Formats: sequence, C-alpha cells, structure tokens
Amino acid sequence: MSTLAFRAFFLSLGGELCFLDLSKPFDDQTFAAIKTFWLERIVFVARGLHDLTPEQLVAFTRRFGEAHVFHVSRYTMSENPEVYVISNVVENGKPLGATGAGTWWHTDEMYLEKPAHCTLLYGKEVPPEGGDTIFADMYAAYAALPEGMRNRIDSLKVVVTRIKTYESYYPHRPPLSEDEKAALPDVVHPLVRVHPETGRKALFCGGGEAAWSIVGLPLFEGQALLRTLRDFATMPRFVYAHKWRPGDLLVWDNRCALHAATLYDTEKHRRIMYRTTVHGEAPVAPA
Ligand code: SIN
Repeated sequence: MSTLAFRAFFLSLGGELCFLDLSKPFDDQTFAAIKTFWLERIVFVARGLHDLTPEQLVAFTRRFGEAHVFHVSRYTMSENPEVYVISNVVENGKPLGATGAGTWWHTDEMYLEKPAHCTLLYGKEVPPEGGDTIFADMYAAYAALPEGMRNRIDSLKVVVTRIKTYESYYPHRPPLSEDEKAALPDVVHPLVRVHPETGRKALFCGGGEAAWSIVGLPLFEGQALLRTLRDFATMPRFVYAHKWRPGDLLVWDNRCALHAATLYDTEKHRRIMYRTTVHGEAPVAPA
C-alpha cells in the first residue's frame, strides 16, 4: 500500500484516511496507525474504494476484531453472512436489504450484552442528496454536561430492550420471530461508560429504539432523563454529518458515538450500503 495520510476534520470528531487500498494486504504497523487515528477521531472516512468487494470489507473488519453475524439473517449476504445490507432497492420482487435502518440516534447493537464496538459502512450506491450518516461525540457531550449532572448519572444504569421497541420502530419490517426474540433478552448497561482503550468517559445513552428506562427510576422519569441527555448530546456542536459519495467507507467507534441515517427520497434514488460490525466488550461504568 502507498503511504497513508491522515486528515483530522476541524471538529472534535471525524477525519479522512487517504490512500487506503484494501485490494492488497498490509502489515500490522500500518493497521496500528489506522487504529490510533480511529481511536482519536471516533469516525473516519476512506474515499474512492469503488471496487471494494464484500470479501475485502470482511477482511478489513476482522483487523478490528471478530466480525459479527447479524441476528436477522434475511438482510445478510448469503455468501458473506457478516455483511448486512441496508437498501431501498427491490430486485426481482426481493428487497436487497433492510429499509429505513437507523434513522434515529442510536448505538449499533446496544441491545446486546456486548454491543458492537466498531462499525464499518460502505456506500456502494448513494443518493445525490439526503441519506447522510450523522455522528455525535459522546466524550465531548459527557464532558460538557454540568458537573452536578455528571455526578448524578455516573452510577446510573439503563435497561436496554430490542423486543419492546422493535415493532414500533420497524413497522414496515416483518416482526421478529420467537427464535429471534429468544436470542435478544433485555440487558442492563451503564449510562456512562469508560472507554476500554482510551480510558475516557463517554455518555452511553443510546437511542430511543433500544434504551428503555433507568434502573431505580420511575419509567417516565427515566425515559425523560434519557431523552434530555440524548437531545443535549446531539446538539450541532457535537455532530459530524457525513455526506456520502459512492465508494466511501466509514469506520466508527460505537463506544463513544451515537449515529443516525438521514432521510432521502426513496422513490427517486437508490441507496445500497454494506455494513459490518465487530464484537465488543461489556460496557464498564466509571469506578
Ligand atoms: C446504521 O445505523 O448502522 C446505518 C446508518 C446508515 O445507513 O447511514
């Protein structure tokens, strides 16, 4: 691979990794530099990867850790089950992938005991307008909270549920089967987590479709606190909005970012995205 270049955006998060070529293997030292940049910037884009194959995407994903096979297999590629397809395109009467995925602030797979720590998203076909992916910096949001609020939330825990919320967030999709539900019991996560690699504290308030209530608080009080924190953390000052070009690959750290997809005209434009996630660790609360 030719020498990589790293460009930090003029924001607390986001950057561009230039000259990434995933058609050739690269050594551990090169990957270590990529990983350091990712840990610092939370999310980066590599552009111009027009010929990226699903196999190359999976191979790159495995550099970050063990690739996850998604629980809803109807949206994964049969020959590369680690690749989850997000798309509005229907071919021969069959949807290419999941439609309307993640159009609200969320953390990938927060409803698992060990949520994904890293997500890779490749834009194979992207609309000319809309369909952006936006990111909020959960380190910066936590640090900007008033001290009294930080002290209050440091020891709180969130009940996270996929089952209670799936059908209201995804009314256009087939409901989860009993087997899928059995694989997704509710979990409890800290509301503030310590990043296992950087040691920094980040808000882990998730998105409405998963973060449900706060342990020890009445339901509505907990939900109101979660909403308040999420609204604060996603103010424009904490946000990077990625405008896609075909061939872009985004890599982000779910341990310190929320993200969301923005809407686009699905009648007029095609959007085909390949997504992989990497198994993470159980979130740890501050000591
Ligand atoms: C996701 O939420 O993981 C996908 C976001 C997107 O499609 O932009």
